[in-house]
Amino acid sequence: MYLSITQACLRDFCQPGIFYSNLAVLKLFNMKQIQNIEEYRAEYQKSIENPESFWAEIAQEFLWYKKWDNVLQWNFETPEIKWFEGGKTNICANAIDRHLEKFGDKTAIIFEPNDPNSPSQKISYRELHTSVCKLANALESLGVTKGDRVCIYMPMIPEGAIAMLACARIGAIHSVVFAGFGAESLKGRINDSNCKLLITADAFHRGNKKIALKEIADEAMADTPSIEHCLVYNHINEKISMVAGRDISWHTLVSVQPDTHEPVAMDSEAPLFLLYTSGSTGKPKGVQHTTAGYMIFMAYTFKQVFNYKDGEIYFCTADIGWVTGHSYTLYGPLLNGGTTVIFEGIPTYPDHGRFWDIVDKHKVNILYTAPTAIRSLETFGTEIFKTKDLSSLRVLGSVGEPINEEAWQWYYQNVGKNRCPIVDTWWQTETGGILISPIAYATPMKPAFATLPLPGVQPLLVDENGNEVKGNPAEGRLCMRFPWPGMARTLYGNHERFKQTYFTTYKNLYFSGDGAKRDGNGMYRITGRVDDVINVSGHRIGTGEVEEAINSHDLVVESAVVGYPHEIKGQGLYAYVICVDKSGNVHNLPEEVKKIVSDKIGAFARPDKIQIVPGLPKTRSGKIMRRILRKIAEGDISNLGDTTTLIDPSVVDKIVEGALNQ
Ligand code: WT7
Repeated sequence: MYLSITQACLRDFCQPGIFYSNLAVLKLFNMKQIQNIEEYRAEYQKSIENPESFWAEIAQEFLWYKKWDNVLQWNFETPEIKWFEGGKTNICANAIDRHLEKFGDKTAIIFEPNDPNSPSQKISYRELHTSVCKLANALESLGVTKGDRVCIYMPMIPEGAIAMLACARIGAIHSVVFAGFGAESLKGRINDSNCKLLITADAFHRGNKKIALKEIADEAMADTPSIEHCLVYNHINEKISMVAGRDISWHTLVSVQPDTHEPVAMDSEAPLFLLYTSGSTGKPKGVQHTTAGYMIFMAYTFKQVFNYKDGEIYFCTADIGWVTGHSYTLYGPLLNGGTTVIFEGIPTYPDHGRFWDIVDKHKVNILYTAPTAIRSLETFGTEIFKTKDLSSLRVLGSVGEPINEEAWQWYYQNVGKNRCPIVDTWWQTETGGILISPIAYATPMKPAFATLPLPGVQPLLVDENGNEVKGNPAEGRLCMRFPWPGMARTLYGNHERFKQTYFTTYKNLYFSGDGAKRDGNGMYRITGRVDDVINVSGHRIGTGEVEEAINSHDLVVESAVVGYPHEIKGQGLYAYVICVDKSGNVHNLPEEVKKIVSDKIGAFARPDKIQIVPGLPKTRSGKIMRRILRKIAEGDISNLGDTTTLIDPSVVDKIVEGALNQ
């Protein structure tokens, strides 16, 4: 047996009803996959009639140090959600250790570097175990312990995943910050949760660009009092400066550590990670996920939705800096003993055939990517497919934003060769995992529809007053009436905001912030956000954050940012900016504004269009009427609606005039 067990755990194991005996014979996650619509209906029915026994049955397949007392306790008013309370487990042990005895030599991670001429790397479960144990020991040697927050600011390389798993192993809470974020964003995230340690790398290449990660981290760390140490992984031998006492070389520290480490038994509801995401207003929110419910939900949804079969190669293109990377590049596949591809680069480097080369080279069976990537590759045409072998593909997935029918068809025909189901998966950072999606080879698909709720998921549509819109077809705001194990439990340090954002708009419901339609057959189509969150290339951007960055420019008085339809990115950012110098020495201002947003937030949040305006349409209460700005940005100026409540309606004419002259 590979898991060494502490005396305390042994005591627990010996109590009746504890899954001690399962441990020795633990096989791959054995849960039955749904094969057809009848089985789906039966499973769905079971899951809503008795959610507790439904989820408990699945939970039994995992390694527990102690069995739970209650499957579920919940209250959407406070809100308080607890799954498997009283239980003790460790997600890292479930994702790695449980596979060692039988599948130790199996490949856990395939690493495909940015440069296609550099060798790719295969990491077995046993090797992954060793690396994670060494790092776990290293973290503990730095005084990091259960409950401490650790910020991970890493490129898309195996060490990023190893850092997450090592944190989970010792019970530290990881907070991954996407390596495309700038110093200001990194600093804000570190300070909000008082991270003790920052794990980063010297630098990395993405396509042709080099990103000096440590330099950005240094800039952030100039003002992060909680950081005691910074662990630096040497990825490309970049010359960097190291601050004595604070900065430590990963290689030096990790190489001397023992290669075994006993996982820490964590309470089911112990926080596993924080992931910051944007809301309509205010600072980014630290969405908090917990150990057991998250683990069970990711393992289940991964296996069902993608119809994952033992031995298959699975490639999710999402960076670990986003929730898709957490749930379906890392945890979902590893919990299932799967093989997951970690890709450092971008779809268009060295050319637009890179995804297809990776599929061909590693014989990828399941590909999970975002509509933006599909639309941008679509612009290069289909000639490229003549020379690529995509016959290994069996399932395709889409995530992050609505997929338009044209992109869906292109994906289906050219990539899937009309034989691979597409799973259009709807979910959010807050939901932890997929809630509405087809199940590959089992339930029907419909282009541009996320289709049906997964078992255990109870969606409904409500009108603006919160009344349920029943029957089909229907349209409304998408809510959930019952908890699922993978849902967020709070926002770090701000439970009140958690309550206000998701649970007070509609009484006793979780409100997603999305609008949706249901067709005559009850299939869901997600129409997009109904709040001020903008989805650019599947990245969630809060208008407030971008405005704050723009306003920090010396020549800017005020600004308003809205989304508009963008052919490739889904939505683009349109910024209306009031400049100090009304006479107009604004020559470089648009470029400078774009740069300041790139530097402060990250290149992905760079506005596509900037319009210098003399004023903004404000109501008497001082609120910007964004509806009007959205219409102008969309180019739909024929009917701007009622402007009589504005303090100065003439400002609208001036903005329209400016827009037409752009
Ligand atoms: C928002 C969540 C899902 C993980 C990655 C993004 C939009 C997500 C779909 C889909 C239509 C989608 C929603 C949602 N969205 N998936 N399949 N169809 N819209 O997570 O950054 O938390 O963003 O992305 O608007 O609210 P996120």
